Amino acid sequence: MDLSRFPRRRYSVGPTPLEFLPNFTRALSPQGDGPNIWIKRDDMLGLFPGGNKTRKLEFLMADALAQGTDTLITCGAPQSNHCRITLAAAVKEGLKCRFVIEERVPGSFNETASGNHFMFRLMGVESLTVVPGGSNMAAAMQQVADELAAEGRKGYIIPGGGSNALGGLGYVACAQELQEQFFEQGVRIDRVVVGSGSSGTHGGLLAGFLGNHINIPIVGIGVSRDPADQEPLVHKEAQAVADLLGTGMTIPRDAVVSVGGYWQPKYSIPNDAMVEAVQLLARTEAILLDPVYTGKIMAGLIGLARQGFFKPGENVLFLHTGGMPSLHAYERELLA
Ligand SMILES: Cc1ncc(COP(=O)(O)O)c(C=O)c1O
Repeated sequence: MDLSRFPRRRYSVGPTPLEFLPNFTRALSPQGDGPNIWIKRDDMLGLFPGGNKTRKLEFLMADALAQGTDTLITCGAPQSNHCRITLAAAVKEGLKCRFVIEERVPGSFNETASGNHFMFRLMGVESLTVVPGGSNMAAAMQQVADELAAEGRKGYIIPGGGSNALGGLGYVACAQELQEQFFEQGVRIDRVVVGSGSSGTHGGLLAGFLGNHINIPIVGIGVSRDPADQEPLVHKEAQAVADLLGTGMTIPRDAVVSVGGYWQPKYSIPNDAMVEAVQLLARTEAILLDPVYTGKIMAGLIGLARQGFFKPGENVLFLHTGGMPSLHAYERELLA
C-alpha cells in the first residue's frame, strides 16, 4: 500500500516502541500457562501526550493546510483526547481551533474540570459549544463553520475521533511500522488487541494489515458499543480506507471482530474491571492507561485471557492508544 502520494505532516520522532511486558504477563498468568503480552506504545506519539489521534492528524492536517484553513473544528466528549490532540496540532501549525462538546452523560460537562478539559483551556481553545448527547454533531460543526465563513474565515471540519478515510491512513502507517518492527526485532505476534470507538484505529489497522498481507487477527474491544453496532462501523471505515488507497480490495466482513460489554455501564463511566486493569499495568510495568478508553480495552484483554480466549504461549499485542491526561479527571475512582 503506497502512502507516499498522500501529503503528511510529521508530529512524532520515529516509530513508537514495541515491547514485551514481562511483569504484566506474569501477573496475568502466575503459572506461566497464559499468553505473552506485548505492547505498542502509541501513547508515546508526538503532540505529547499523544495517542492514536496523532497518527490520524498527520494526514488530516496536511489536507487542512492544503485547503488554506485558518481554524479547525472538531467534536468529542467533555474529556475528549481527540479534541485535545487536535488543538495541539492547531497550535503547532499556527491555526485556531473550536470544539463542539457532546455531553453524552448528562451533567458531565464541568467548566473547571481537570484532565483534558484543563488542557483545552491551557492551550487556548477559541470556543467550545456544549450540546446534549445524541445531537447531530455534523450539523453542529457545520454551524460553526458557517459562522466562521460569515466572518471571512475558513474552517476545516474534522469528524469525531478523526475517523474518516483520510484519518484512517494513520493506522495503515502504523500497520506498516509494525510490519517493519516485527521483522527488525524478530517478533512473531499471533493476535492484536485494539480499542474500537469511532473506528478509525481498528478500521485503518485492519485495512493496513490486509493490504500489506499481515496475517494477524485483530480483536477490537468496544469502548462505547457492542459488536452488532460496532462492527458495521469498523467494516465501513476499513473499506473506505482501502478505497481511498485505490487497492481494489474488498474487506471481508468476518475480518472485523469486536468484543462488547467492557465499556458498560456506559461510555466514560468507570467499572471495576477498568480500575483493576489501570492499577495492574501501572503497578507491574509503570505504564499508565486511561479510564475511558485504554483502561477498558485492557480490561477486555484481561477478561479474554481469563476466559482462555488466547492459547498458552500466544504472543498478544496490546495497542496502547494513549489518553493519559484524563486519569487526572478520575483520581478518586482509580484509588477508591
Ligand atoms: C485513548 C483512546 N483510545 C482509543 C480510542 C478509540 O479509537 P477510535 O476512535 O479510532 O476507534 C480513543 C478515541 O477517542 C482514544 O482517545
